[in-house]
Formats: sequence, structure tokens, C-alpha cells
Amino acid sequence: MTRLVYIKTKNQIDKIRLSSRLAAQTLDMITPHVKPGITTLALDKMIHKFIVDHNAIPATLGYGPKRSPFPNSSCISINDEVVHGIPGSRKLQDGDLVKIDVTTILDGFYGDTARTYLVGDVCDEGVRLCEATKESLDLAIKEVKNGARLGDIGHAIQSHVEACGFSVVRYFVGHGVGIEFHEAPNVPHFGDKGSGKRIKTGMVFTIEPMINAGVHEVEILDDGWTAVTADGKLSAQFEHTVAVTDDGAEILTLSKYS
Ligand code: MF3
Ligand code: CO
Ligand code: CO
Repeated sequence: MTRLVYIKTKNQIDKIRLSSRLAAQTLDMITPHVKPGITTLALDKMIHKFIVDHNAIPATLGYGPKRSPFPNSSCISINDEVVHGIPGSRKLQDGDLVKIDVTTILDGFYGDTARTYLVGDVCDEGVRLCEATKESLDLAIKEVKNGARLGDIGHAIQSHVEACGFSVVRYFVGHGVGIEFHEAPNVPHFGDKGSGKRIKTGMVFTIEPMINAGVHEVEILDDGWTAVTADGKLSAQFEHTVAVTDDGAEILTLSKYS
């Protein structure tokens, strides 16, 4: 099946920007609460209230197959959990690497962003992994402009994190976003410079590298959602929604902290 890549109008991008900023502000709001002792469900409840209070809808709530829809308003994934962790009774502990991913629907438009939070004293490898992941996203965004190729993005991420001794998750990729939650094109976080589809002005997509300290392979837990590293080692992720312009990218999920 070939899905169409939407080229968004200025008006649509204005609306996606408003939704994206709300998603970023949601992560800002939760930042001071990401501390030892709090449960991931308590964090999720605050996130839910914040989004709803801003006249938006949490896109993850009820998302997915009818027989096992995602049950919460955020994905919260700890340590070896890569993505799609389900909030629950688990309490954050000193040393945890916590990934929180929020997607908002505001006025019908989607914004999608994630960050990794360091809880208390994180081991050296965890800190380096988190830094390398954030750097790889920033390097990837520098590649985005009209006429560049999707492989330029993947290559920027892969070459940076592999030089740091880390690996790129292949199983999950970035995606077009804005009018729907997951649109074409797929945006891999690995690949060769000059390869892949051409990037065009008006495209809006996420870049969301998931970087592992050990092997790149992941496994899905019995809950049907939580992806964990196959070797039990740490994983980090940052995600931005970006809009392609003639000479670069506008980061739509920017906020005062990101
Ligand atoms: N926000 C995730 C992404 O970046 C998708 C989460 S889908 C869910 O694409 F169902 F797990 F919530
Ligand atoms: Co995404
Ligand atoms: Co996301």
C-alpha cells in the first residue's frame, strides 16, 4: 500500500504548530514532577489534565487496534524500555532514565514530542547515551531542507551515535504527522547519505531517534505495547515534530526548555 505524503499549507502548519507547542508545554509542565517516588500513572494523570484543560485531546488514549488500544494519555518508558511504556503503579527511582512521549490533537491537528529525563544520579553510560541521542536529533534536524533526502537524516543520526558506541533502533521510525497521527513517509533513523525519498517544502514529520546502549534489537512485552531492549541495556529517545522549509526546518515542538 502506498500512502500519500501530505504537503501542508501554511494554514495547516499554523495549526500543527499550535498543537505541537502544546505538546512541548506538556513536557515542560511535567518536568519538575519527574522525581524519585512518583508513579508513572500519577505523571500520566497530570499530563491528561493539562492537555484536556487546554482544549486538546491526548492522541495516544485509545489509539491502536480495537482489541488492545493504548490505555493512557502518554507513553512513559523507563531504562531498558524503549518506547510505548504504559503508565502504572511503578515508582520512579534514583538513577532511572525516563522517556515521556506526548501527542496532542488540537483543533484536529497533531503534535508529537518526546524527551528523556534523568532522575537523580544516573550512571555515566546513561548520561552519555542521553546526550548522544539529543545531539543526534539536533544533527538530523540540520539536514532537513527542501531537496535533501530522508537518508541524510538517518545517516546523521546513525554516524553520530555509532561513533559514540551506541546503536540505532530499526524497528520503530519517525513518521509524517499533523493531519493524522502516523502519516507517510517513514523516517528511518539509520541509512545512507543521498538515499531515500526527497524531502519537500511543506512536509511535516517527526524525527525521534531511539538509541540503545547495547544491541539495536527490541522485544515487545506481553502487554502488547511496551518495547524493551533485547539485551536489557538502557535506551534513550528525543522526538521533535518539524516542518520543512525552502532552506531548512522549523522545529514545531519547541518550548522554553527544548
Ligand atoms: N507518540 C508515539 C510516536 O512517537 C506513538 C505512540 S502510540 C501509542 O509515534 F499508542 F503507543 F501511544
Ligand atoms: Co512520533
Ligand atoms: Co511520540
